[in-house]
Amino acid sequence: MTKIAVITGANRGLGFAAAHRLGHAGVKVLVGARNGSKGEDAAERLRSKGVDAESLNIDVNSVVSVQEAAMRVDRNYGHVDILINNAGILPEATASNIDRPLDLRMFRETFETNVFGAISVTKEFLPLLHKSASGRIVNVSTTVGSLADQVDPESPYYGLICPAYQMSKAALNGLTIALSKALKGTSIKVNSVCLVYLSHA
Ligand SMILES: NC(=O)c1ccc[n+]([C@@H]2O[C@H](COP(=O)([O-])OP(=O)(O)OC[C@H]3O[C@@H](n4cnc5c(N)ncnc54)[C@H](OP(=O)(O)O)[C@@H]3O)[C@@H](O)[C@H]2O)c1
Repeated sequence: MTKIAVITGANRGLGFAAAHRLGHAGVKVLVGARNGSKGEDAAERLRSKGVDAESLNIDVNSVVSVQEAAMRVDRNYGHVDILINNAGILPEATASNIDRPLDLRMFRETFETNVFGAISVTKEFLPLLHKSASGRIVNVSTTVGSLADQVDPESPYYGLICPAYQMSKAALNGLTIALSKALKGTSIKVNSVCLVYLSHA
C-alpha cells in the first residue's frame, strides 16, 4: 500500500525539499500549506518532477484548519504513515527584531507556530497515524535549540542569541521526548531532526 506523508509548511524551503525526497522514495505526499494557491503551485511543481503530490490546506495556528485537514485526509486516505511537523518561524531573523530580545509578543508568536502548532497538528492526526502499520512523527527542530550547544563554548552556535526561537525548538524537543515515551508500545515512533540544505556541488 502506498505510504501517505503529511508535511506542514511544505510549499517552500525544507518542507518542499523533504516532500521532493519522500516523493522520490515512493511516498504519496500531502503538501501542507496555509495558503491554498501556494500549496497547489508547490504540488504542481512536485508532480512535474514525478512526485505523487497533492496540496493540503493547513494553517497550524488555526485549530479549525488543522481539524478540517485531518478530516479531509481521513476521508480520502483513512490513514497517515508519516507526519512531518515542519512549519516554523524565526521572527528574530528580521533586523527590526534583533534589539527586542525579551519581546513577549514575539515569544508568543514564535511558540504559537513552532510549539503549539506542532501539538495541535499531532493531536488531530494521531488517530490517523495509529491506523498505519508503522506511523512516524518527525518534529523539525534545530541544533541551535540544543541546550547543550548553547552552553558549550566550542559549539559553532554558542554565540547565537535568538531566545524565542531557541526556546521554542527546545520545547519542541521536549514534546518529542514525551510523545515517544507515551507512544512506546505502539507502532508509532517520534523523532526530532535538524534539516539542512545539501549542496550537490
Ligand atoms: N533553514 C534552516 O537552516 C533550518 C535549520 C534547522 C531547522 N530549520 C527548521 O526547518 C523548518 C523549515 O524551515 P525553512 O528554512 O524551510 O523555513 P521557510 O523557508 O521560512 O519555510 C517555512 C514554511 O513554514 C510555513 N509556515 C509558517 N507558519 C505557518 C503556519 N502558521 N501554518 C502553516 N505553515 C506555516 C511557511 O508558509 P508560508 O510560505 O505561507 O510563509 C513555509 O512554508 C522550520 O521549522 C525551521 O525552524 C530550518
